[in-house]
Amino acid sequence: MSDPVPTSQRLDGRVAVITGGASGIGLSTARRFIAEGARVVISDRDGAALARVAEDLDPGLLATLEGDASDESDVAALVEVAIDRFGRLDIAFANAGIGGPQRIVDCDLNEWSRVLDVNLTGPFLLIKHAAPHMTAGGSIVVTASLNAVQAGTGMAAYCSSKAGVAMLVEVAALELGPQGIRVNAIGPGFVRTSLTEGAFAVPAIVEGYAENTPLGRHAHPDEIAGLVAYLASDESSFVSGTLQLIDGGAHIMRYPDILGILGA
Ligand SMILES: NC(=O)c1ccc[n+]([C@@H]2O[C@H](COP(=O)([O-])OP(=O)(O)OC[C@H]3O[C@@H](n4cnc5c(N)ncnc54)[C@H](O)[C@@H]3O)[C@@H](O)[C@H]2O)c1
Repeated sequence: MSDPVPTSQRLDGRVAVITGGASGIGLSTARRFIAEGARVVISDRDGAALARVAEDLDPGLLATLEGDASDESDVAALVEVAIDRFGRLDIAFANAGIGGPQRIVDCDLNEWSRVLDVNLTGPFLLIKHAAPHMTAGGSIVVTASLNAVQAGTGMAAYCSSKAGVAMLVEVAALELGPQGIRVNAIGPGFVRTSLTEGAFAVPAIVEGYAENTPLGRHAHPDEIAGLVAYLASDESSFVSGTLQLIDGGAHIMRYPDILGILGA
């Protein structure tokens, strides 16, 4: 047996890129990566939020870039910033995601396409552009969702995109394993972030999630960041091609009927 990997500075010397890093799960993960010794480049489409994050964190440890996670040239630029500023790339966290409730029969094709572009094409682009720079091996993590395995009313585009992510990481793990690159997805349940702030304004939705979660509550983004840091670190050195649910056990129960609760 080798010595146990320390859990405090697990990412010492590593360089990471994160999409959707200015808020919620992405921001908590950026802070966690830095706390564990990494240098991080975050991109986001929200320039004002990025500027607020940059004010708060050491510029020697964090770089920011405004960009769209579904735009190939923006994604390529994010990877270039990591190489130019910090000289290497070890970790890529494809995290940007969007979604809103809409019945299939009411869903505009542009809205469907936009969700698929950000949630599924975005991770494909980051894997495509990050992997060739991971010359010393690496770890790629993609944010899927509980909805990769559990359907919800009004969530056709979101659920389909997240189920697609679960398969994308399997194919990427197959193709990149020989280069020492691990690829995994995470599947959070209900987490309080700006994405879900609208849902938190409706008590019946919050109760619906809590009732259908064995642990009886929602998650804080820091709890999700802990799993991403583990997957990014050598502690998960034999974990690849997986979807790691982090949902308080919600996958064992049923998804709340959001459209039913909203009377839509
Ligand atoms: N909050 C939850 O309950 C929950 C549950 C499961 C999965 N997720 C997933 O977690 C990920 C992060 O979401 P969050 O809850 O932290 O939300 P959030 O809204 O707090 O953060 C998402 C960030 O991504 C950015 N973003 C959105 N679209 C972008 C784009 N096209 N290009 C660049 N940046 C973009 C937003 O500006 C925002 O800063 C998403 O993939 C989401 O689907 C969230």
